[in-house]
Amino acid sequence: MLYQNLSPAPADPILGLTDAFKKDSNPSKVNLGVGVYMDEKGRTPILKAVKQAEKILLDSQDTKSYLPIAGAPEYGQAVQELLFNSRESARMRTAHTPGGTGALRVGADFLRKIRASATVWLSSPTWANHKGIFSAAGFKTAEYPYYDPASHGIAFDRMRECLKAIPEGDIVLLHVCCHNPTGVDLSPEQWKDVIGIAQERKWIPFLDFAYQGFGKGVEEDRAVLEPLLDAKLAFFVASSFSKNFGLYQERVGALTLVAETADAAEAAFSHVKTTIRVLYSNPSAHGGAIVTTIFRDPALRSLWLSELNEMRGRIAAVRKEFVNQLKAKGASMDFSFICRQNGMFSFSGLSDAQVSYLREKKAIYMVAGGRMNVAGILPGNIGYLCESVAEALERAP
Ligand code: LMR
Repeated sequence: MLYQNLSPAPADPILGLTDAFKKDSNPSKVNLGVGVYMDEKGRTPILKAVKQAEKILLDSQDTKSYLPIAGAPEYGQAVQELLFNSRESARMRTAHTPGGTGALRVGADFLRKIRASATVWLSSPTWANHKGIFSAAGFKTAEYPYYDPASHGIAFDRMRECLKAIPEGDIVLLHVCCHNPTGVDLSPEQWKDVIGIAQERKWIPFLDFAYQGFGKGVEEDRAVLEPLLDAKLAFFVASSFSKNFGLYQERVGALTLVAETADAAEAAFSHVKTTIRVLYSNPSAHGGAIVTTIFRDPALRSLWLSELNEMRGRIAAVRKEFVNQLKAKGASMDFSFICRQNGMFSFSGLSDAQVSYLREKKAIYMVAGGRMNVAGILPGNIGYLCESVAEALERAP
């Protein structure tokens, strides 16, 4: 038998939670696992701007022929405008990829061709899939210090020290905003410092930008990319439009390569295209066409921005309410740091024993390490959640 000696693979630490949650028959169950936005009713609605763009596309699309390997050029322009306000486009190229994960993997496979012996440095902690993606591409991975549990902030001195020791040609994965899983971001001054170190040490910054607009705003979140352009470094940006356009199931993202010169960008991008060709040939069109349509139409673009602001605003309000209710329910820990975190996630400070207690006794699902999706906290479950967290702190210290 072909699979006789094959034991089942472990469930995915994030997506596996959704499967377990669906199977749970507890009527009070709460899903704070996967990073998907939910409104107050617990729905993940299609944005109005997306619906309108889809209507336009339904009427205007006249072919289903293949896209180019790197996707439609106008999509690439939209992405570069979103990231860099169309600055210095001659030394950048963008490929439309299947989501942010696809962007990371294409970038990793490309880099493996030219930097086979490099180590990829990941923040400690980081998104559960980063290590898997870069390891699958054949890279060794290592960690740089990032989160300081004692202060619920960044261990910046230790991070700096480690980044300064990283050898030339290694790859450093940085989260632009809404750090996943901690929600704790570098300040603009710290970013400048990190960019200075990259310039001095000549390692390659690879930026994961999956939450543009969920931090402080679309413009504010991308502002940290400007000094990178000024530094004339070569770097990569993996964008995802799952969250900020709500296009999760369309798998729409982008890999933007920025090179030191226009000629270098052209040469490097030819290899990115050969990388894509053997992975999935060329991207599926629909998600990218939605983003481009919204971007080209001023009315749709401002509708999208207002919907994005509304999502960000709801999450910020939930953070405050969560902290207040935890206090009111007598939680024996100060959770006020949660209000200082950005984006969809909160690193709650709960131990693995408390996370297991909440799952087993209360049917409350969050990622190991204590990451919770704040958008999953709803008016209908916040009371139960806060009581349960207070109980877990007592019973599973
Ligand atoms: C998450 O971190 O929950 C999301 O990015 C979804 C995923 O693919 O893990």
